[in-house]
Amino acid sequence: MLDIKVEKTQCPKEKPAKDDPLLFGTIFTDHMFVMDYEEGRGWYDPRIVPYTDLTLSPAATIFHYGQGVFEGLKAYNSESGNVNLFRPDMNAKRSNRSSDRLCIPEIPEEDYIQAIEQLVALDKDWIPDEPDHSLYIRPFIIGTDPFLGLKTSRYYKFIIILSPVGPYYPEGLDPVSIWIEDDYVRAVRGGIGEAKTGGNYAASILSQVKAHDEGYSQVLWLDGVERKYIEEVGAMNIFFKIDGKVVTPKLNGSILPGITRDSVIQLCKEWGYEVEEKRISIDEIYEAHKAGLLEEVWGTGTAAVISPVGKFRWGDEVMQVKDGGIGELSHKLYDTVSGIQLGKIKDNHGWIV
Ligand code: COI
Repeated sequence: MLDIKVEKTQCPKEKPAKDDPLLFGTIFTDHMFVMDYEEGRGWYDPRIVPYTDLTLSPAATIFHYGQGVFEGLKAYNSESGNVNLFRPDMNAKRSNRSSDRLCIPEIPEEDYIQAIEQLVALDKDWIPDEPDHSLYIRPFIIGTDPFLGLKTSRYYKFIIILSPVGPYYPEGLDPVSIWIEDDYVRAVRGGIGEAKTGGNYAASILSQVKAHDEGYSQVLWLDGVERKYIEEVGAMNIFFKIDGKVVTPKLNGSILPGITRDSVIQLCKEWGYEVEEKRISIDEIYEAHKAGLLEEVWGTGTAAVISPVGKFRWGDEVMQVKDGGIGELSHKLYDTVSGIQLGKIKDNHGWIV
C-alpha cells in the first residue's frame, strides 16, 4: 500500500457553473497525483499536490521519442451517494501491458488503483451531477530522462489529473458520420497499436483533419497491410449489427483492447445475441449494406461510452446505416453501461468499485 503524502491547495479553484457545457478535457480539478521513478530505486515519493504545470528538462525522453503511456476512466456520482469507478482494475492492467511494450517500469495494480481512489476522494466535489457528465480520470506515465540518446529512460513520472466532463462528441447519442481512411493507417501488427500511447493518436490526427474538412466527424481505420480489414473508429472500438448478429474486429495486435468493448461483448452475449470477434473486411460491410442487412453500427470507448454511426463514406460511395443509424441495441447498451456506471442499474458483474 502506498503512503501518499497529501498537500492540499491553499487556493481552491472556482468550480464550473451548473449550466457550463464542460467541453471535454478543458477544466482540471484542484489536485493531482505524482509519483517518481528512478532506475535502481523504483517508484518513490507518491504524493497528492495542488494541480500545477510541470518543470521538465527540454531534453526529457517523452518530448523526443514519445516514451509514455496513458489511460482514461471516469468517476460518477451514484444514485446512492457513493462515488463509482468503472472497472479500474482493467485500466491498471492495460497500463502495465502498455508500459511493457514501451519499456516503462510497471506499477503494482493495487498502487495504481489506490492512487486513483485517493485523488478522486479528495476532489470528489468536482464530479458533475448533470446527465451524461462525469469526472474524467487521466493517469499517465512519462519518461523524464534528460538525455537525447535513444534508449529507455532512467526516470519516469506517474501522474493522474482529473477533469469534469460532459459528452465527448457534440453529437451525444446522435449518429456520427464516418470517413473510411484507405490512405493512411493508424497502426500495424507488431507496432504499438494495442498499447495506449500517444504515438497511435498522433498518427491519427491528419486523417481526422481530412475527415472534418470533408464534413465527416470520425475516421474508420483499416488494417495497415491489406488496407481491407476494419480496425477501429476514431479513438474507439467498433461494432456492427448485421442481420441480427453482433460482430466486432478481433483483437489482432494493432487494435486497442477497450474496456467498454469488453463490457459490451459481455452484455450482448448475456442478452442472447450471437457475438463474433473476427476479421471484418470493408467489402463485407458494403455487401451487408447493399443487402439491407447493416442494422446498426456503433463505437465504444471510455470518453464517448457508445457512439452510434449513421453513415460511412468509402471512396465515392456513401453507405447509410438502416434507419439513419438510430439503433435500438446501441441505445440499450448506452442506457445499460451508463446506468451501471451511475448506480441506476444493479451491477451484476462486479464492475463497480
Ligand atoms: C478514452 O476514450 O478515454 C480515450 O482515451 C480516447 C481519448 C482520445 C479521449
